[in-house]
Amino acid sequence: MKLKFITGLALVLALFGCSDKKQDFITANVDFAEVQLENALKAIPEDGRLPRSIKKDGQLGSTGIYDWTSGFFSGSLWYLYELSGNEHWHNEAERTTVWLEPIQYYTDNHDVGFMLNCSFGNGLRLTDNAAYKQVLINGAESLCTRYSEVTKTIKSWNGGGTKDGNRWQFPVIIDNMMNLDLLFEASKLSGNEQYRNIAITHAETTMKNHFRDDFSSYHVVDYDTITGEVRGKYTHQGYSHESAWARGQAWGLYGFTLCYRETGDERFLNQAEAIADYMLQHPNLPEDMVPLWDYHVNDPAYVPSWLDKLPKLEQPWRDASAAAITSSALFDLSKLSKTNGEKWSKAAEQILFSLGNSYKADPVNNPFFVLDHSVGNIPSHSEIDVPLNYADYYFLEALARYKKLEN
Ligand code: GLY
Repeated sequence: MKLKFITGLALVLALFGCSDKKQDFITANVDFAEVQLENALKAIPEDGRLPRSIKKDGQLGSTGIYDWTSGFFSGSLWYLYELSGNEHWHNEAERTTVWLEPIQYYTDNHDVGFMLNCSFGNGLRLTDNAAYKQVLINGAESLCTRYSEVTKTIKSWNGGGTKDGNRWQFPVIIDNMMNLDLLFEASKLSGNEQYRNIAITHAETTMKNHFRDDFSSYHVVDYDTITGEVRGKYTHQGYSHESAWARGQAWGLYGFTLCYRETGDERFLNQAEAIADYMLQHPNLPEDMVPLWDYHVNDPAYVPSWLDKLPKLEQPWRDASAAAITSSALFDLSKLSKTNGEKWSKAAEQILFSLGNSYKADPVNNPFFVLDHSVGNIPSHSEIDVPLNYADYYFLEALARYKKLEN
């Protein structure tokens, strides 16, 4: 009898201890984010350019509304509102979200999904502001202008090519999976099934052509605009064509998870779980589960022909943005998975704790962002080991998903 009582007491204490640890972690990180993002708000230049990263002189680095990252700042403010309940963040999120209104008619690349769903999409989710609905529907219409019935995909970029001389006709990048949330949402808002059908077809084509047998993904697949055939497969922002660029793997995981959430089609669930296993079981994943910027960097089997054009790669640069996207996606997957929920939520939590405990910005050098140690585009020598607005966005999203997760 006495033993039963003691065991019961230990269980209750363990549960309370566990939830205290969770609550303390969330509170500490939300408090920190509120201070940092308030500084960023105050540093926004008069022309309304939005925070993106930090400049070499320590000043805020900003971006215009047509940049692919323009929706992340107001999106982070929406998450701060959700996490803190503080009306100040509601007001600031609303104020900065409307700056992106012109994006609803933007057709020049595929990123409208990122831009509008993170800003207006979160706004609608949290406030039910009817004015946001039409913006999302118009944005989906703009995105669909880039869909081809020949390639069965949405075109990502308008041109470009590889460092070793291949020119692209119809490049589709794995990141594009992230734009599909906008199409699913716009279908629900408008009743127009076309957006949803395009999202599903794009995901099916990507599943067929972007992935290797081990479920790692290429970054870019280039299609022939006349025949729809694949012309070539490449990795543009990673180490080499056959390597696994860390953020690309994270975009794929997040994208196929959302496709399963929206369709219930088990092919997408299987794809998401296989990608998660590839990443989490990778021998080169560091113990703290924050990946190197590419899973194969400096691996002799993957050395690119353009190695001499890359920055010096001795430093083991991590990509906190890839970790934040992965953590958030795994929390989503943990709720959807039929048999592996606990496995995914445990991994998501471990990554989140690594980021929140060891990758936070030093407020003396970086008073504007929550996380540090992300990379933008190493092969282009751009944004190496810096804070990035999308690392913060997915970190806050992961915190919000973690908060909602039952113990
Ligand atoms: N979507 C662009 C990037 O991940 O760098």
